Amino acid sequence: MNSENTIILGIESSCDDTGAAIMKNGKLLANVIAGQQVHSRYGGVVPELASRAHQRNIVPTVAIALEEAEVKAEDICAVAYTYGPGLMGSLLVGASFAKALAMSLNIPSIAVDHMRGHILSHFIHHEESLKTANSPRFPFLALTVSGGHTELVIVHDHVNMEVIGKTIDDAVGEAFDKTAKMIGLTYPGGPMIDRLSRKGKAIFEFNKPKVKGLDMSFSGLKTSILYFLRDRKAENPKFIEDNINDICASVQTCITEILMQKLKKAIKVHRPMDIALAGGVAANSQIRRAFQSLAENEGLGCYIPDFQYCTDNAAMIAMVGHFDFLNGVRSSLDLTPRSNLAL
Ligand code: KG4
Ligand code: ZN
Repeated sequence: MNSENTIILGIESSCDDTGAAIMKNGKLLANVIAGQQVHSRYGGVVPELASRAHQRNIVPTVAIALEEAEVKAEDICAVAYTYGPGLMGSLLVGASFAKALAMSLNIPSIAVDHMRGHILSHFIHHEESLKTANSPRFPFLALTVSGGHTELVIVHDHVNMEVIGKTIDDAVGEAFDKTAKMIGLTYPGGPMIDRLSRKGKAIFEFNKPKVKGLDMSFSGLKTSILYFLRDRKAENPKFIEDNINDICASVQTCITEILMQKLKKAIKVHRPMDIALAGGVAANSQIRRAFQSLAENEGLGCYIPDFQYCTDNAAMIAMVGHFDFLNGVRSSLDLTPRSNLAL
């Protein structure tokens, strides 16, 4: 172990991407992702195939990260890994590898909550970004939107976070992906809906869910879209083909409005210093624009990570590992992953 520098290896394997990252003194040196194309033909992630691909990818992914960072395994101070939430088989591959490596190097392992990783992705800085780097001020309000989660979180500091609202059914990413499937787009459909929306107009209206407080719901929207498409196709069998851009723009606008409504409410109640967006759906161009203009209107700072740190990545896990390591956090080797971990 290198005692002068804090070098953390981060490992992420909660869903369908195998990630490894190296962070030295809080600065990112390498962030490697091995994606999994195998799921696209099934219209969603197939857990067993994901675990097998992680098993194949984990060793080379970590080796490439070490090589890119020019760091020797013996210099790592701790191995941080995602221990939930996520797919159990996928989590087990990353966790078992991380614990075995930590044990063999006689260094600690640090179990990381994936959702905390998405939130602390706002603190990731690399060599080029360090000079201009700034991060959200505490307490800030984080909206985390991904294929598996939709949460509003008040972040008091690097450790203390409080979920103040979440989806009661589908995640935002699921709403995008399921809509995409209904209109014949391949998985993951979110990016495609985003692209087609640019050529369309939001001329169709869908029922917005009526959920009290700061919780959200997206399964009703999915049903509303399903019935809408069924009725329109009965009148014109080519309705989807003829209107695909406008359908995408309408769905995307509806989702954006639902999110912004709740965000506005949360700002009013919790008065954060800044607002921050994270998770794979943060790549969506309309949501990003709406988020930025809401921040401007409310006089708040607006933070959206680089795209590569929005989607699942190991840099965010190494970032959490860095803060936790400095705070003296060490995880037991007996710890097992938790598929439904909550912040
Ligand atoms: O955070 P992430 O990479 O994985 C999870 O932890 O789920 O998020 C993946 C989700 C998918 O549902 C994908 O369709 C969605 O993010 N997504 C998008 C866009 N890019 C990715 N949704 C809408 N617009 C996008 N541009
Ligand atoms: Zn995620």
